[in-house]
Amino acid sequence: MRVDLERLLRSQGFGSRAECRALVARGRVAVDGQVCEDSGAQFETEGFSFAVDNVVWNYRKLVYLALNKPAGYECSRRPVHHPSVYSLLPPPLVMRGVQAVGRLDQDTTGLLLLTDDGSFIHRYTSPRKLVPKIYEVITRHPIDEAQRAALLGGVELHGESKLVAATACTLLNERKLCLTVTQGKYHLVKRMVAAVGNRVAGLHRIAIGGFSLPVAMPLGQWMWLESPSGLGDLRDDFD
Ligand code: URA
Repeated sequence: MRVDLERLLRSQGFGSRAECRALVARGRVAVDGQVCEDSGAQFETEGFSFAVDNVVWNYRKLVYLALNKPAGYECSRRPVHHPSVYSLLPPPLVMRGVQAVGRLDQDTTGLLLLTDDGSFIHRYTSPRKLVPKIYEVITRHPIDEAQRAALLGGVELHGESKLVAATACTLLNERKLCLTVTQGKYHLVKRMVAAVGNRVAGLHRIAIGGFSLPVAMPLGQWMWLESPSGLGDLRDDFD
């Protein structure tokens, strides 16, 4: 599809039409290494790349990101007590409406997916889709075999009509578990661990669906995911 530069910049989160026109007029936008001062210039969107203030961007119809969330950030656009995870992203990504796929508590670290693809958010947060989410859980007290078995067998949680069970639970050391859950309820892991008589002292999400956070990725850093297909197929919950 061929689109003029002003519309192209707008679609990528660089502001209103007037703001995008002004960016171009001020010589802040380059295409193929040359400043382009014509906001009406037409470009093919497929494979298009441009620079704003010398930062290179590739045109993306939709964006998919993985953030290694640090502690002390809220997954809300209007945070109350802590800064927002959106403050860790470049402003154009926030401007184009990227949203977190589900939420992590402010004190939870690790993998947070973000996208402006509404249908992806819907699929990945739908309770019927059973998307596996894998957490490393540090517990306050040593974990015993009875607690591990109870997490796998299912625990009663206030407000839930059915038992909630982990789909996998491996002991990494006496106070560290690797726990897989497929639901996305509020404080789910903390409530499950409390239900078996322990306490979460630290929570870090390492994977969602088929995507694992790169081990070397520092907290606070984000990366592009080129397409959602690498995140694995989803199956439906029909029971
Ligand atoms: N479960 C929790 O208790 N907290 C999170 O942030 C994620 C899952």
